[in-house]
Amino acid sequence: MAVYLITGAAGFIGANYVHRLLEREPDAQVVAVDYLRGAANLSNLDPVIDRISFHAEDISDFDAISALYKKYRPEYVVNFAAESHNDRAIVSPSEFMRSNALGAQVMLEASRQFPVQAHLHVSTIEVYGELATGAPFFTERSPLNAKTPYSAAKAAGDQIVRAYMSTYPEMNIRMTHCANNFGPYQSPEKLIPMSITRLLRGRKVPVYGDGLQRRDWLHVDDHCSAVHTVLHSQLGPIPAEAATDPGLLPIFDISARNEVTNLEIVGRIITHLGIDPAEAIEHVPDRPNHDRRYIIEPTKLETELGWRPRRDLAGSFADTVDWYVENRGWWESTLADKGELGFNWGARQEPSPTPA
Ligand SMILES: NC(=O)c1ccc[n+]([C@@H]2O[C@H](COP(=O)([O-])OP(=O)(O)OC[C@H]3O[C@@H](n4cnc5c(N)ncnc54)[C@H](O)[C@@H]3O)[C@@H](O)[C@H]2O)c1
Repeated sequence: MAVYLITGAAGFIGANYVHRLLEREPDAQVVAVDYLRGAANLSNLDPVIDRISFHAEDISDFDAISALYKKYRPEYVVNFAAESHNDRAIVSPSEFMRSNALGAQVMLEASRQFPVQAHLHVSTIEVYGELATGAPFFTERSPLNAKTPYSAAKAAGDQIVRAYMSTYPEMNIRMTHCANNFGPYQSPEKLIPMSITRLLRGRKVPVYGDGLQRRDWLHVDDHCSAVHTVLHSQLGPIPAEAATDPGLLPIFDISARNEVTNLEIVGRIITHLGIDPAEAIEHVPDRPNHDRRYIIEPTKLETELGWRPRRDLAGSFADTVDWYVENRGWWESTLADKGELGFNWGARQEPSPTPA
């Protein structure tokens, strides 16, 4: 019975991963960790809560995390935990550095002191920044060029992951960068659930700027299957050439090559719900420093590990809208708990207190 330690497990992707993992490996022992702030929602784990050990801990707290390693001796670690909302990061960047950079290092250090079979760090397409006009896509060889407080904190995490990979090759560390995800259990502060839940309450969707920001979209099930593939693949030793070629490090970019503008995404939701578009959208001031376009290329994952996405965009998108229609209680209680989520970038933002 394999022992998994999954962080960020009460968030969107972490919870979906725990659900899929227990379908795939019903006997797995799952230790789920989340500090239950921000986008966390413990009810995301309701369907499996009796089958896992849940711990409300902070991944940047080495003593707390190492106590879990000592107790459970995990064999596989997947670090999904991160502060993940770009808008929030603009208002309150400090907690992003703590979770996304220091938290990444604490998790690695715990896996170094209490060795595991494989440690996978989940990163994001956003560490590569914005694509230049005419550039086709990012790959594992693209330089890190993060430009927002969220993505810069993730990129800081990436750098320490790369340093541990190269310095301690026996640790069996892997890292993934994924395109934008959609699917069930995503916090209603993110574009797709925010749009659906506003429309279902008869409100308009606020579209930032012209809405022509281009993103690469993937269903969360495909992200989870890619993470599982990378976690369990037998990878060869890191070659010496990786010192100057990051394409040779155990880093894999994940995408289904679905490039769509934000306006098109909102349009698909409006069409699926059968709402009059003239009544459904309002353009609002764009957030500062908003990336215009980013797309990622999954060829390495496809050719070296044989992974393929299984969900097509149209079908999985329609399923996602239907999930929010059918699970109104889930998002209504989330909104009741956390309050209406949204930012007015036309108004001055007050900085939130910096954590100690
Ligand atoms: N959502 C996407 O489109 C996307 C795309 C690519 C990569 N990612 C990455 O996937 C991971 C999960 O993203 P998500 O969309 O599920 O985000 P999310 O915000 O829904 O979930 C993240 C979870 O991590 C928890 N967390 C944050 N800091 C923590 C800490 N210090 N200790 C313990 N728990 C902590 C939060 O409470 C939250 O429940 C992140 O690392 C993110 O960067 C997300």
